[in-house]
Amino acid sequence: MYPERWRQRLTESAAEPVAPLVFRDPRQALASTRYVTSEAARMCIRRALHPWELARILPPIGRGAWRGISRWWRWVAAHDIRDDHIRRPGLKPAGRDEISDNRQFRAAISGGVLFVASIGELVGYLVVGAEVPLLSVLAASAIAGTAGRDRTAERTPALATSGAGLRPGIPTGVLARHVVRGLEASRVTAEPAAPPVQHRWGWTVPVLTEDELTDKTLRALERRLRARRGSITPIPDPDNAAVTALRIVHTDLLGQVGGPPPRPPLSGSITEPADLGRVMDGDPLILELLRVHALFVGGTGSGKSSALWTLLDWLTSCRDVIVYGIDLTGGPVFRAWGGCIRQVATDADAARDLLERFIRLSKARADRLGERAEPRPGGPPPGDENWDPAVDGPAYVLVIDEYPVLADARIDGKPARLADLVTTLERIGRKTATQAMLAAQRAGKGDLGNTTVKAMTEVQGLLPCAAGDVDMLWPGRRSEGWRPDLLKGASGRRANDAGKVYLNAAGHDEPRTSRFYRLTVAEIHRRAIKRMEAGLPEPDEYSARAWDSGEDITDLIERDVPKLLSDLLGALDVHQVDGLPSAAAVAHLVEVDPDDYADIADLLPAADAGPDETRAAMQRAQMALARRLAVHGLSTAQLGGPGNPRGYRRADIQASIDGTWDPLPARS
Ligand SMILES: Nc1ncnc2c1ncn2[C@@H]1O[C@H](COP(=O)(O)OP(=O)(O)OP(=O)(O)O)[C@@H](O)[C@H]1O
Ligand SMILES: [Mg+2]
Repeated sequence: MYPERWRQRLTESAAEPVAPLVFRDPRQALASTRYVTSEAARMCIRRALHPWELARILPPIGRGAWRGISRWWRWVAAHDIRDDHIRRPGLKPAGRDEISDNRQFRAAISGGVLFVASIGELVGYLVVGAEVPLLSVLAASAIAGTAGRDRTAERTPALATSGAGLRPGIPTGVLARHVVRGLEASRVTAEPAAPPVQHRWGWTVPVLTEDELTDKTLRALERRLRARRGSITPIPDPDNAAVTALRIVHTDLLGQVGGPPPRPPLSGSITEPADLGRVMDGDPLILELLRVHALFVGGTGSGKSSALWTLLDWLTSCRDVIVYGIDLTGGPVFRAWGGCIRQVATDADAARDLLERFIRLSKARADRLGERAEPRPGGPPPGDENWDPAVDGPAYVLVIDEYPVLADARIDGKPARLADLVTTLERIGRKTATQAMLAAQRAGKGDLGNTTVKAMTEVQGLLPCAAGDVDMLWPGRRSEGWRPDLLKGASGRRANDAGKVYLNAAGHDEPRTSRFYRLTVAEIHRRAIKRMEAGLPEPDEYSARAWDSGEDITDLIERDVPKLLSDLLGALDVHQVDGLPSAAAVAHLVEVDPDDYADIADLLPAADAGPDETRAAMQRAQMALARRLAVHGLSTAQLGGPGNPRGYRRADIQASIDGTWDPLPARS
């Protein structure tokens, strides 16, 4: 236990500059002094107002004195022998005489000490005055009182009585004690695992506990410490399952992050890291956006569009980036940037055209990279296997706001399946610096069109969102301190936590909150006009040709086949038929994947059910399957429901997969 504690402490202090924050930061020093002074003043005032409370110090002094005297007596009367007896060769038990000899010796020492002390006090009294014995008595009482403290009795933390709650400058030892007591009040047995560390924003308090730290416990602790709601986040120690660092944010350094630094036209480059906001400890939020796809998810009012503005501000200041946009809701995100965005698609047709051009470009660039990789006498130098954006070969970035609307879009009443184009672009576009950045309100499979989108984005950010979104995007991370669900989006005129984000990207593997800079529309206009006047990056000749080539890319597009449909096709293959009765389909699905189809399996009749019961249960199971198929645009009426003897036909399912299926108009 102890070596572990010291190891941790050493690691921490090695990571930090040598002096603790208290000495490095004058504000911290001031806060500490202020805290100690005000606590002392508060105690003095309380004593002055309630002098009888002084009587409360008598029992501990009495206990301490009693403990001291009895310990002394045990020492004098012990059956001990002196050291030199032990060192004697041939150890044998001390004789009666030796013991009494030793007792007398210790009694003599005690008497001597008492005598010398009394003489000292007397001399002090005669030379200095009554202060000397008085101070001695006070010191002895203080020592006795400290030794006689009742450690087991539950005492209200000073914090609770002062009503001021956690304040900067509170000694970390005191804080650790309050936290542990607060946890104990919720029946969680804990002890400090290492000294708390003070930061500019608050503290991390490592605690050791074998009990589970539930949300309920932490919210109770926040109340007990008079801390802000949601300010305590548990961060489990990866090396020790019993240790959890409680991160307590006191001062929200992200309260006001303001706008991004000025960026003159063509001053940046996508090959350099981007400064997009601030991290919780006040450092700049740095993101590497070269050849990555990004996905930002956040509920309504979480600040997604504002985050895209900040991203766009950086992208459009780069000399080697051409920016395109898709927003099928026609919001102000791209319009505010005017001509800085080369083209914006606001309907599904235009979006498809844009996506197809991106894929064509990416393919052409991949071909060029392939050519370059092949050794030929007199050929071009090999270069990198990736496309390095430069002024004469810029990166293409496609920014998509409200991505679920795109995934859901229909062209001529049929699902346009644009999500497949986006996944295709993500799959082939990384190496060729043709990148996509998506913003979505929800992260569910139904919202993103398919699950590949999630897997292909290297930079992921969660703004204030629902717990379910965190679980969908980062399963299991919520218990490790990734809690964007505790953030609150903007409501009315209050910004709350809008724009705050948890990032999962290179250099961001710890659960820390960051906040994007926020641009006002006026500022965007100023910047946009400057950049438009200075001229924006132009495509290179090769890319421009690929962009307009109109090449057929159908083979490149990988259609995402929904699992249910592919499982159904599997059923048809197993039975080697082109149509399968619905009951057989149910039986097959439940057999191949009992977990995924548990809802259907649960409806199936029990083995000992009567014939009527069996038929009814079977019908219910088939209806459940039909309902799940309806999600894919296949309505029960068209497919032939449970009562249809033809059941499910291969042609219908295949048509649905290919996107050539004509769904019935939705019933209103
Ligand atoms: N970084 C930020 N700092 C401070 N306030 C912010 C920040 N980002 C957003 N806000 C506030 O949050 C509000 C909503 O932001 P925004 O419109 O970008 O959210 P959204 O997620 O796009 O919402 P919707 O889903 O409705 O489109 C803004 O009006 C602004 O007041
Ligand atoms: Mg928006």
